[in-house]
Amino acid sequence: MKTAITELFGIEHPIIQGGMHYVGFAELAAAVSEAGGLGIITGLTQKTPELLAKEIARCRDMTDKPIGVNLTFLPTFSAPPYPEYIAAIREGGVKIVETAGRSPEQYMPALKAAGIKVIHKCTSVRHSLKAEQIGCDAVSVDGFECGGHPGEDDMPNMILLPRAAEELSIPFVASGGMADGRSLVAALSLGAAGINMGTRFIATKEAPVHENVKKGLVAATELDTRLVMRALRNTERVLTNKGVERLIEIEREKGKALKIDDIMDEVAGVYPKVMIDGDMDAGAWSCGMVVGLIKDVPSVKELVDRTMTEAEQIIRQRLVGFLDGVPQQQRARAVA
Ligand SMILES: Cc1cc2nc3c(=O)[nH]c(=O)nc-3n(C[C@H](O)[C@H](O)[C@H](O)COP(=O)(O)O)c2cc1C
Repeated sequence: MKTAITELFGIEHPIIQGGMHYVGFAELAAAVSEAGGLGIITGLTQKTPELLAKEIARCRDMTDKPIGVNLTFLPTFSAPPYPEYIAAIREGGVKIVETAGRSPEQYMPALKAAGIKVIHKCTSVRHSLKAEQIGCDAVSVDGFECGGHPGEDDMPNMILLPRAAEELSIPFVASGGMADGRSLVAALSLGAAGINMGTRFIATKEAPVHENVKKGLVAATELDTRLVMRALRNTERVLTNKGVERLIEIEREKGKALKIDDIMDEVAGVYPKVMIDGDMDAGAWSCGMVVGLIKDVPSVKELVDRTMTEAEQIIRQRLVGFLDGVPQQQRARAVA
């Protein structure tokens, strides 16, 4: 399958693994890129630019296919040294950066001077248009379903993607709720040129996280995510657990007066506890509604290959079948 995204990034399949804190290490990124998608190392999980340089080098030892690095621009007072992180990316020979959070505008000259292609992740048409205007090469359009930060507009992908298609000139991928070949074909139908998956890639053999996390994702249903931190305008979709229940209770008590300090125990330092120690009740960690579609823990290659096979079957058999007037049995899955 060739799309504007496979051509832009020089990859075989239009599937990207979004940056994920404490998940997007070299092992996962390399596995995704080796499988023909685009694997992304999460820049800020590496505490210093020097450590990021080492992680990039480790990934380079595992694959010579294109890889990317995620740079998340956080709303913090003590900003990480982004120019140094960008230098590590440039010197590591990485040619693709996924930006997220705040606008990457001030860093675009440095990224472009290094010949880096930028895909900015955003949750609205207006931010996507801004990304296009400041010179981003592509956008990852992140709907309300997504794990992580869906923004404050609550716009699901069924509306957001076709709206993005109406307005954008640069290519975009659908992000949030993507799990398989059905998602890929749906995304292509709505105007996207590929998909970005987060949560689905955590439940893979290569994802370097505790087994409890993978088991937890397989056990959870689409009803098990919660939105937290809305009062702080920093809404995050997370998997519910005891820590999250406590957090929601505090949010109820404080209402609009909620301060970040009120919920520090439930949101700060949670990722290593969950992803490394396997403490599933530690607090808030990102997870998408797509968790309801996760039923197994395949290898990354199995996941990517079956996504592409399923997409092809849906297009060639189910969809063309409708046009050809071939009656089809209604099944739970489009392709059994
Ligand atoms: C555990 C986890 C951690 C994440 N961390 C980041 C991050 O550090 N930076 C970022 O830009 N996106 C992050 N995301 C968002 C993903 O890159 C991706 O946009 C999102 O998961 C897509 O939605 P999905 O989970 O429904 O596939 C994270 C998502 C998850 C599930």
